[in-house]
Amino acid sequence: MEFKAIIDAKARNDSGCAVVGVYEDGDLGVAARHLDAQLGGLIRKLHEDGDFSGKLGDVLFLPSATGAAAARLLLIGLGTRSGFGRKQYRKALSSSVLSLAKTGASDAVVYLALEQVADLDVQYRARNVAEVFCAQLYKIPDLKTSVKPKAPRLSSIGVAVADARAVKAATEGLRIGAAVGSGLALSRDLANLPPNVCTPTYLGHRAQALSKDFPSIKTKVMDESAIKALKMGAFLAVAKGSDQPPRLIVCEYRGAKKNAAPICLIGKGITFDSGGISLKDPPAMDEMKFDMSGAATVLGAMRAIVELKLPINLVVIVATCENMPSGGAVKPADIVTTMSGQTVEILNTDAEGRLILCDAITYSRRFKPAAVIDVATLTGACIIALGNHISGLMSNNEALADELQSAGVRADDRAWRLPIGEEYVDQLKSNFADIANVGGREGGACTAASFLSKFAKDLQWAHLDVAGTAWLGGAQKGSTGRPVPLLVDFLINRVRAT
Ligand code: BES
Ligand code: MN
Ligand code: ZN
Repeated sequence: MEFKAIIDAKARNDSGCAVVGVYEDGDLGVAARHLDAQLGGLIRKLHEDGDFSGKLGDVLFLPSATGAAAARLLLIGLGTRSGFGRKQYRKALSSSVLSLAKTGASDAVVYLALEQVADLDVQYRARNVAEVFCAQLYKIPDLKTSVKPKAPRLSSIGVAVADARAVKAATEGLRIGAAVGSGLALSRDLANLPPNVCTPTYLGHRAQALSKDFPSIKTKVMDESAIKALKMGAFLAVAKGSDQPPRLIVCEYRGAKKNAAPICLIGKGITFDSGGISLKDPPAMDEMKFDMSGAATVLGAMRAIVELKLPINLVVIVATCENMPSGGAVKPADIVTTMSGQTVEILNTDAEGRLILCDAITYSRRFKPAAVIDVATLTGACIIALGNHISGLMSNNEALADELQSAGVRADDRAWRLPIGEEYVDQLKSNFADIANVGGREGGACTAASFLSKFAKDLQWAHLDVAGTAWLGGAQKGSTGRPVPLLVDFLINRVRAT
C-alpha cells in the first residue's frame, strides 16, 4: 500500500473514492461540507431523510454521485464532534478501510485527517491512517487449501491535509505509520505460524533473512554450544526437554554514533509452552504457540526502526526454545546456575519465561545499554490483573517507565504500571538456592517481574508483560502484534528527546 499526503481541503481530487466524515446530528466534517455544496445538498438530505446518521463507525457508500470529483464516495460516521478523540478517530479509520476494501476502487483519498482530533496533531493523524489501514488489511498467512479470496484492488491512499506545512508533517506521519504497519505485519506473521513451522531454528533463519533485507542489521544466531559457552544455565534448563535445539538471536542496528549506548530490546521466544513437566491443562494449550510473541514483536520493532532509518543504536536479543516434557526435561526441584551466577530452584517448570529472560538480561550487559526492555507473554496473573486491553509495565526506573507509559498512550497500545520490590522478592525465597522461580498465586505478575529485577540491578530496565495483549482468542484468534506500536513510539521519542 502506498500512502501520500496531498493538499485538498475541499474534496476536489478525482480519486477512485473520497472518504469523508460526517458527525452526528448532520454536522458535516471539513471535506463533507464542501462536497455537500458540490452535490447540491445531497449529504445533508441523506441525513435529514434518515439514511445516514453519522453515528461513529457508520458507513454509507455512494457509487457515483454526479457533481463529485471522485468516482465514488464513502461517508463515514464520526459520532459527536465534542467526543471525537484518538479512539473514535481510529474507529472511523478502520470502518473506512473495511468498506473501501470491498469497493472496486484502486485508489482513494481519505479526508478524515482534516478534522480536529483531541490530542492528535497532523503527524499523528496521518500516522494513524497508515497504521490502521495496514493493520486492517493484514491477512493471516493461513494454510487453508480453498481458493483464496481476491485481494482488494486498493493500492494507493491519499491523505488530504490543509496546506504545505501540513503536507510535511503528514508525510513524516505516513512514513512512520507505514513502518509500524510493516513491523506489525512481520510480528503477526511470525506469531501466527504453527509451532511445528515456527521453531527456534526457524526464528533464527527469519532474523538472518531480516538482515538480508536490511543490510544495516547485523544478525548473529547462536546455537546450543554457544549458549553453553555463555553459561546460560537457566535458559538451557528450559530448552532441555525439547527435541528442537534453542537459539540465542542477536540483531544489532547502529543508526547513531558508534559509541552511543544502545537500547536493548529482549524478547521471550518460547515457540511452544506446554508447561514442561508441570504440564498445562489441555484447554487453549494451542494458544501457547503465541508464547514467542515477545520475540516476534522485538523483531517487528527492529524492522520498523530500520525502515525508518532512525538515528538510534538498537540491539534486539531473542532467547528462543520450546518448553516440553520429556525424560531429559528439567524437573520441579532442579537447581540451575544462571549466567549471572545466581542459583535458581525451579519449583514449577511452567514458569519458564523468567528463566530464559534472566539469562538474556545478563547477556545484554555486554552492550552497555542505555536501557533494557524485555517483552514477554510472562504470566496468566497479568491477564487477571489487567484483562486483555492493557499490557503490564514494571520497571526499576521511574523515568523509563513514564516514557514507555506515555508512548503506549500516544500509540494507542497502552501499558499500565504494576509494582515490583522486596516484598515480592521475599515470596521467591528458596531453602536450597538463591531464589525460586515461583512465588505463589498472589501477585503472580509482580513476583515474575521481581524475579527478573534481580538480574537487572544497575541497569535501566523495564518489563512489558503482554500475556493479555499479544493475541486474541476465540473466533478472532490471532496475533495482535502488540506492543510493536508502543516500542516504535518509545524509540522515536527517545531520538527526539536527545
Ligand atoms: N506463557 C505462560 C503465561 C501465559 C499464560 C500467557 C496464559 C498467556 C496466557 C507462562 O510461561 C506461564 O506458564 N506462566 C505461569 C506461571 C506460574 C506457573 C507461576 C502462569 O501464569 O500460570
Ligand atoms: Mn509457562
Ligand atoms: Zn510461557
